[in-house]
Amino acid sequence: MKAAVFRQANVPMQVEDIDIAAPGPREVLVRAVAVGVCHSDLHFFNGTYPGQTPMVLGHESAGVVEAVGDDVHYVQPGDHVIACLSVFCGHCEHCLTGRMNLCQEPETKRRPGEAPRLSQGGAALEQFVNLGAFAELMLVHEHALAKIRKDMPLDRAALIGCGVTTGVGAVIHTAKVRPGETVAVIGCGGIGLSCVNGAAIAGAGRIIAVDTLASKLDLARKFGATDLVNAKEKNPVGAVKELTGAGVHHAFEAIGLKATAEQAFQMLMNGGTATIIGMIPPGEMVAMHGAEFVFEKKIQGSFMGSNRFRVDMPRFVDFYMQGRLHLDDLVSNRIKLADVNDALRALETGEVARSVIMFDD
Ligand SMILES: NC(=O)c1ccc[n+]([C@@H]2O[C@H](COP(=O)([O-])OP(=O)(O)OC[C@H]3O[C@@H](n4cnc5c(N)ncnc54)[C@H](O)[C@@H]3O)[C@@H](O)[C@H]2O)c1
Ligand SMILES: [Zn+2]
Ligand SMILES: [Zn+2]
Repeated sequence: MKAAVFRQANVPMQVEDIDIAAPGPREVLVRAVAVGVCHSDLHFFNGTYPGQTPMVLGHESAGVVEAVGDDVHYVQPGDHVIACLSVFCGHCEHCLTGRMNLCQEPETKRRPGEAPRLSQGGAALEQFVNLGAFAELMLVHEHALAKIRKDMPLDRAALIGCGVTTGVGAVIHTAKVRPGETVAVIGCGGIGLSCVNGAAIAGAGRIIAVDTLASKLDLARKFGATDLVNAKEKNPVGAVKELTGAGVHHAFEAIGLKATAEQAFQMLMNGGTATIIGMIPPGEMVAMHGAEFVFEKKIQGSFMGSNRFRVDMPRFVDFYMQGRLHLDDLVSNRIKLADVNDALRALETGEVARSVIMFDD
């Protein structure tokens, strides 16, 4: 099968022929239909985050089940699925306390010594976050899949695999935004726009979108933003305080920068919570004035929207079908697997919401 193979940071990936194993126990072979290109792929491609090579990147994917291994009961060939990197074991402390997005148990991977899922000429290839979705086929643990209704278009379903689950989930699960509360979202890419959309679904009173690109702010308006701040023209902290008087109940950082994470905390009202979604480069520190804690201001991380994705994803599909989740506007362009390097470059400049790779030649 064909896959884009990541071999070295910042060196364009080539589409190569690689081998994929037959599904073993609990494993499912999925024929990819669409995969979105997320900034997290870029963090590993450009070396901001360290990753093993050679590796197949990609993690925002939807497709059709092609074959199942022994002991797979959840899906059967022909089922439509969304893949999720939050693969869960089902019996660790995190899984049993409803925080399955934090599960790190290794049993959902193949063990060292077992034949690898992906290989080329007998040499193993890494599967990014147990998925490796920039490929025609994916071989995953059945706990990495959510089954969805068949009338859902799979290109838009793919976006639910990471961006939507992360952005909407940060709002409704991690931060638990209440109706009427004010929200600011810094960064309006695939994740930030999903945060804006999630805040609208949650019934937030005022939704302030912050970005440095006017085109992204226009898009944020479509997703439910009530106020727009261009961070190139104005200091976002001053602008948000000016708009709200006291600051916001909730600020979300959806870029991955120290400076904007600090802005998220600084724009809170007393008692407010900053939720950091962006992946800040390893080793960088985020600073805030300690005295602010006396006013019950909080800062927290959010990983994949604190999801329970087998429950969340079918609901997000229904939200799309009802017109409440604006996935049509999230797709900036549909491209081929060979164009993946261009899609990563487009994320660097911020010009796209999402590029979606289509496999239907
Ligand atoms: N926590 C998680 O579970 C999780 C999951 C997925 C992605 N992420 C991370 O979320 C972040 C966003 O991902 P994405 O795919 O939406 O990225 P993206 O590149 O599509 O979007 C980033 C947006 O931020 C804007 N921006 C850049 N610098 C800015 C600044 N100084 N002020 C205001 N706006 C600015 C850009 O114009 C762009 O619209 C990344 O760091 C990604 O790795 C985290
Ligand atoms: Zn992602
Ligand atoms: Zn677990």
